[in-house]
Amino acid sequence: MTQSNLRLGVIGLGRGFMLTLPALLGHRRIDLVGAADPRAEARARFTQEFRGRAYRDFTELIADVDVDAIYIASPHEHHTEHAIAAARAGKHVLVEKPMATNLADCRAMTDAAAAAGTVLMVGPSHAFDAPVALAARLIASGAHGRPRLLTAINYTDFLYRPRRPEELDSSGAGGVVFSQAAHQVDVVRRLAGAPVVSVRAATGDWDPLRSSEGAYTAFMTFAGGISATLTYSGYARYDSDELLGWVSEIGHRKDPVAYGDARRRLTELSDTDEATLKLSRAFGSLGVAAATPPPPFHEHFGFVLVSCERADLRLMADGVQIYTDEERRFEPLPAPTVSRYAVVDEFVRATLHGEPSIHDGRWGTETMACCLAIRESSRKGREVALGAAFAD
Ligand SMILES: NC(=O)c1ccc[n+]([C@@H]2O[C@H](COP(=O)([O-])OP(=O)(O)OC[C@H]3O[C@@H](n4cnc5c(N)ncnc54)[C@H](O)[C@@H]3O)[C@@H](O)[C@H]2O)c1
Repeated sequence: MTQSNLRLGVIGLGRGFMLTLPALLGHRRIDLVGAADPRAEARARFTQEFRGRAYRDFTELIADVDVDAIYIASPHEHHTEHAIAAARAGKHVLVEKPMATNLADCRAMTDAAAAAGTVLMVGPSHAFDAPVALAARLIASGAHGRPRLLTAINYTDFLYRPRRPEELDSSGAGGVVFSQAAHQVDVVRRLAGAPVVSVRAATGDWDPLRSSEGAYTAFMTFAGGISATLTYSGYARYDSDELLGWVSEIGHRKDPVAYGDARRRLTELSDTDEATLKLSRAFGSLGVAAATPPPPFHEHFGFVLVSCERADLRLMADGVQIYTDEERRFEPLPAPTVSRYAVVDEFVRATLHGEPSIHDGRWGTETMACCLAIRESSRKGREVALGAAFAD
């Protein structure tokens, strides 16, 4: 039986959408047919570029009978409302990370999809990156024994890139735990391949001129005696892309000479200019091209090392370096042909072919539970057990 393509609508045509767009355009089973966004310039550009229908209000998009599925790339605080409404209208949902900002919302989203019989998937996150998938396959092969210890380190300029005010408000949905631990936790969970047992963490808010949760470190334990340390700083000083051969998070070559650029640009801006500058990287802004060529390297989320029983596996932007007792060898990956293809392909397989998805609503809920535990552990100064969040 031949099946027709998945007719996709997008809620939120911002930076997240731009990063997924190459895969939406590059997957032969996706028809990008509709969008919803309050920004008139984004709607006009969508209609012009993709001949799709563009609505101001998301309820009109999900009521569109010619849309089968919705990719939700609106700000975090809208994910739950958008996902539940879409499921109730019978639409499959791919929702950006973080899935939501509390566990009750994650469960309500999962329940809505289950009641409607629709697919709910969470992504993209860096757990979909090809080097992570390759390392996960190497681990699953059993050739190097079981994973024992994982180390994940990422030092970026996250806090000094142009931001909406909500993105910095860590009393709410802002800050690096929801936005960035959602990636790093996903990566270590995929590689550990076991349920999380506990989290001990500390978060940092260190710049009084830009107060926000800007860093964290976490020690996670998993079933089967696996443990992981995760460290993230968005304070734009040390840049761990150095450890990846100066390849950026999205797979482009990076110039180490441009040290301090993010902070410098920000000091020259007013608050209004900052919001405008953020939008300059969104869809519909002048000079932002929809069709970008693939980057020369794979995406990554900083330094990741998995110590297995008989080898250490180090994830690089072009493959995995394997250190055994006898030798050091490199398992290469072909260069990417379409950015973020894996997430869109997993969504297509789940919706059109009924294949199980790794990154389903339950997966997203569990990653959210870890993010919330990072915050709680830091606040209370003690280890947080995750048993309840991971129970059947
Ligand atoms: N996976 C990734 O690598 C990645 C990267 C960037 C952003 N994101 C995620 O994407 C989401 C959006 O972040 P962003 O950086 O793209 O923000 P952004 O500000 O660049 O874009 C948000 C877009 O949503 C629109 N919007 C706002 N309220 C809306 C509503 N009620 N209905 C419909 N559209 C609405 C805005 O007009 C804007 O176009 C966040 O959850 C973020 O975590 C993920």
